[in-house]
Amino acid sequence: MGAGAEQAWNKNKIEIGILGLGVVGSGTVALLQRNRAEIERKIGLPLHIKRIAVRDVDKNRAVEIDHSLLTTNAFEVIDDPEIDIVCELIGGVDPAKSYVLRALRNGKQIVTANKEMMAKEGSELMEQAASKHLDLQFEGSVGGGIPIIQPMKNALAGNRILEVIGIINGTTNYILSKMTRERAEFLDVLKEAQDHGYAEVDATSDVEGFDAQYKIAILASIAFTNRINVADVSVEGITRIAAPDIQYADELGYVIKLLGIAKRTADDRMQVRVHPALLPKNHPLAATNDVYNAIMIKGDSVGDVMFYGRGAGSGPTGSAVVGDIMDVCRNLRFGSTGRISCTCFDSKPIMAIEDVVSRHYIRMVVQDKPRVLSAISGVFGDFDINIESMVQKTVQGKQTDIIWLMHEAPSKSISEALKVIKNLDVVVEVSNWLRVEE
Ligand SMILES: NC(=O)c1ccc[n+]([C@@H]2O[C@H](COP(=O)([O-])OP(=O)(O)OC[C@H]3O[C@@H](n4cnc5c(N)ncnc54)[C@H](OP(=O)(O)O)[C@@H]3O)[C@@H](O)[C@H]2O)c1
Repeated sequence: MGAGAEQAWNKNKIEIGILGLGVVGSGTVALLQRNRAEIERKIGLPLHIKRIAVRDVDKNRAVEIDHSLLTTNAFEVIDDPEIDIVCELIGGVDPAKSYVLRALRNGKQIVTANKEMMAKEGSELMEQAASKHLDLQFEGSVGGGIPIIQPMKNALAGNRILEVIGIINGTTNYILSKMTRERAEFLDVLKEAQDHGYAEVDATSDVEGFDAQYKIAILASIAFTNRINVADVSVEGITRIAAPDIQYADELGYVIKLLGIAKRTADDRMQVRVHPALLPKNHPLAATNDVYNAIMIKGDSVGDVMFYGRGAGSGPTGSAVVGDIMDVCRNLRFGSTGRISCTCFDSKPIMAIEDVVSRHYIRMVVQDKPRVLSAISGVFGDFDINIESMVQKTVQGKQTDIIWLMHEAPSKSISEALKVIKNLDVVVEVSNWLRVEE
């Protein structure tokens, strides 16, 4: 160790305290144990886990640990003067946020994988950390094991980021992949995923898109150096996707994916949204299946870069948390914590989803009668919407499915046109409407 480093760090080891020993906590501890010698060699100091707070000390753990490390009192971690880094791996906003704020007030460096807390409360936490020159690292909060936050804050930092688009929720990607392969219905696949443990018993946050909403809010905040208010990110989940949508999309050369999208428009406005969309089969993200995640970033200098890997789970997220811990250790060792603080310099509002212009897919059931198509296309014309193509499926009884692909149009125009079309005598139902991404 050089002279400067010795001045910066005067202890013979770095003490870690952990809040939570569930999926991510266990993966973190297991990795620190398994690769300990190599990790310590890389950071140049011994690492020691001093205390771990949980809810129930008697619970079976997925990792072997000395049970005397466990406590149900989180303050024994947060307030311990010997602990240098606190890893918050509990989840949710309450009490995680108050624990992190108190740990920061106590001068602790923070590593967290908590997307909800960072998306909703990141601004206050980052400010608190910056005011004390402390690290607050959160790589595990987006993309599980995929490095995405550190690359955006370091290797890609010189770029003006134009676009971030990603498959950032493994559960919904698993469901949509299985629906595509097996032509199965959403509820059947969801139940099977729950039975096999691929989806939570309460899968609301995943299937309604909230998990992806937190993640794209975090990514967009970093990409656009603008605080993105999570409540302003429009969100639509996958519960309306039915087997016919998957089939028709396939026939037209597309797959359906739940996407997190953050784009800068030509007039420098920002779109940040989560919704299912049709993606051309040759799109780089289209081949991302099952629980895998992938994120594409477009920078003004680098062009397109893509990150792919396991977006959740004990080992992958543990990998991200340990990477952050090591980064903090290096900063501690060289007296450079707080080096990269919050980069949300602006708070400009994002574009309303109604104003977002894209191509569109619409599926409807109509009566098999003359002049049906002219009645419907007339309404689209009234709203200045150009039809790209239309496919009429085989007549069943006296009804038939019609699939429309529309040229670029604002969502507002499509929504208004569909309100009128729904009330036409010849229209049985408008079954689904999805955006088409390029
Ligand atoms: N699971 C993933 O694949 C994944 C991926 C990326 C990010 N994340 C994020 O990582 C965080 C942790 O997720 P997880 O899946 O590991 O959750 P988890 O399996 O439910 O584990 C949570 C842990 O926190 C402990 N805990 C809960 N409330 C506590 C409290 N008030 N005081 C002390 N300990 C408390 C629990 O104790 P007991 O064990 O005693 O109940 C448990 O060990 C979340 O923010 C999540 O969004 C998870």
